Amino acid sequence: MPRSFALLLMLAFANLATAAHDPHSYAEPDRYLVRHVALDLRADFTTHRLEGNAELTVERVDPAARELRLDTRDLEIHSVQLIDETGQGRDLPFHLDARDPVLGSRLTIDLAQEGGNNALQRLRIEYRTSSEASALQWLEPAQTSGPHPFMYSQGQAINARSWMPIQDSPAVRVRYTARICTPPELVAVMSAARVTDADATPGEYRFEMQQPIPAYLIALAIGDLKFQSLGDRVGVWTEPSRLAAAANEFADLPRMLEAGEKLMGPYRWDRYDLLIMPHSFAFGGMENPRLSFISPSVVAGDRSLVSVIVHELSHSWSGNLVTNASWNDFWLNEGFTTYLERRLLESLYGERRAHMEDAIGYEYLVQAIADAKAAGLPRDSSLQLDLTGRNPDEGTTDIAYEKGRWFLGFLEARFGRPAFDAFLREYFDAHAFVSIDTATFREYLLARLASPGAPAIPTVEIDEWLYGVGLPSTMPAIPHGVFDAVDRAAAEWRAGRLAVNDLPVRDWVPQEWVRFLDGQPADLDDAQLAELSAHFKLGADGNAEIARSWLALVVRSAYVPAYADLERFLLSTGRHKLVVGLYRDLARSETGLELGRMIYAKARPGYHATIRQAVERLLLLQSGAAAG
Ligand code: BES
Ligand code: ZN
Repeated sequence: MPRSFALLLMLAFANLATAAHDPHSYAEPDRYLVRHVALDLRADFTTHRLEGNAELTVERVDPAARELRLDTRDLEIHSVQLIDETGQGRDLPFHLDARDPVLGSRLTIDLAQEGGNNALQRLRIEYRTSSEASALQWLEPAQTSGPHPFMYSQGQAINARSWMPIQDSPAVRVRYTARICTPPELVAVMSAARVTDADATPGEYRFEMQQPIPAYLIALAIGDLKFQSLGDRVGVWTEPSRLAAAANEFADLPRMLEAGEKLMGPYRWDRYDLLIMPHSFAFGGMENPRLSFISPSVVAGDRSLVSVIVHELSHSWSGNLVTNASWNDFWLNEGFTTYLERRLLESLYGERRAHMEDAIGYEYLVQAIADAKAAGLPRDSSLQLDLTGRNPDEGTTDIAYEKGRWFLGFLEARFGRPAFDAFLREYFDAHAFVSIDTATFREYLLARLASPGAPAIPTVEIDEWLYGVGLPSTMPAIPHGVFDAVDRAAAEWRAGRLAVNDLPVRDWVPQEWVRFLDGQPADLDDAQLAELSAHFKLGADGNAEIARSWLALVVRSAYVPAYADLERFLLSTGRHKLVVGLYRDLARSETGLELGRMIYAKARPGYHATIRQAVERLLLLQSGAAAG
């Protein structure tokens, strides 16, 4: 098929996508919009449930609308009431549909009786969550770094519906307040401002988020938490035994925030705090507004992994301020953020550091494109995704991150940096607190390109980036020179011309170790692997990124003596990038698949529900599952 025709087809597809609604939500935002949510929940650490009510303030957008549809998953709905001006409630009929394995259960609330012209209505929904709620992970004291239990929520992508009835689409933004009741010795934190309440009893906490955010960014964590300030607007929360190390690791936080504002415009969320989580936290970082949740694996002791912090901070602009309208537009969140992450790394720690992350990320991009193709899903390597009928988490690949990053790198090169920086700031201002899709971004970009002084970028080049698969023909050259010395040393060692003692590792930063290990082919012999592991004490401990790259090499070369370390590592962390990456590597061979299933059987209880799903998909443990 000639390329121009293929592009035409893709454009037709893109226009359809604009008109279509979010395929991962039952909400009908063109009929009703939930504008505000007031949560009143009690956390029960014995039954692993949240119980209480959510009061939704709902705006009727379409005067003909009579039924409000909300997203839920595994919620027990006790009652739905309409609240009048005096605070009196009146029961409303409601209906919960059968559970869809991906989307959950549609909740329909009958508002037919309420007719009138009331633009705003208040509904109170009494409910409780399931102990298996897909958003919530309940940790026993043994899974924390102290004697207390811990719980947290993870909303992205479509898990908010498992802990509150809501319009769980990133296209819909709400403000929220919350009252959270915990056991008296524990502390609750949320992606919101803390409201001090002189009358609060121990274990009672209040919050308020004044800026409108998508449901997936409503977040809660409860544990034995302490706070340390790191500056006027920034600080860190974590369990007491982790506090000193965390405060030291993230001492650059004030500088990071300043660098962010310089590049991206004003920080519009007031405070920026970090919450350092227990090891089973499902991600390296999650950009919950005002309070990023961060894996303790980022606390490496040498500040070498702070790119995660810079990444989550950048989401305060791309993702939280300007949000992907559906998970098919995920690159608008992650590609932008990865681009901004690299820019901030460059301004804070120098070009070399940014180039290292780019070079490492590029290799993962190439692998992700190959994986998509091998899985028979080549279209998954497009920036514009179509995940209709699939779990949107399947879109969480390095394609959105690194191909998105290079699309913006391509634009930067064409605009020139100063003009592109101006474009970025205008983009954030123009779309602040708005959710947009890929087609809207495209139109905005094309309009900007039509204005005087703009660079000439052919539309087909832009569309090849947005809708084409694989690497586009205008892919910029990736700076890889930063690793020349490492690559040379690795080749010399492999060829037997350089003894392991003479490898120039003394000054290597973790990224150089990662490159060294990632660059090793699958056919090293056991003696070579034994030499590396013994000499450099490679195993399951130490810097988590180095451990992952070592263990990926162990998997690729089927190095049996290190399988115990592999198992220990997979049992000790629950972080997506570390865990899912290694299981994906294991799933590439029959014996690996078997080993992966064996380890997973033990590790499963320590993983968040979303990680379980992803791993089970890879290990083909789900009925009708395809590797992806
Ligand atoms: N928003 C993501 C995490 C996420 C993605 C959660 C998709 C659920 C669904 C977060 O910003 C992220 O990208 N985290 C990365 C770190 C980053 C430096 C690449 C991670 O967890 O490793
Ligand atoms: Zn991200």
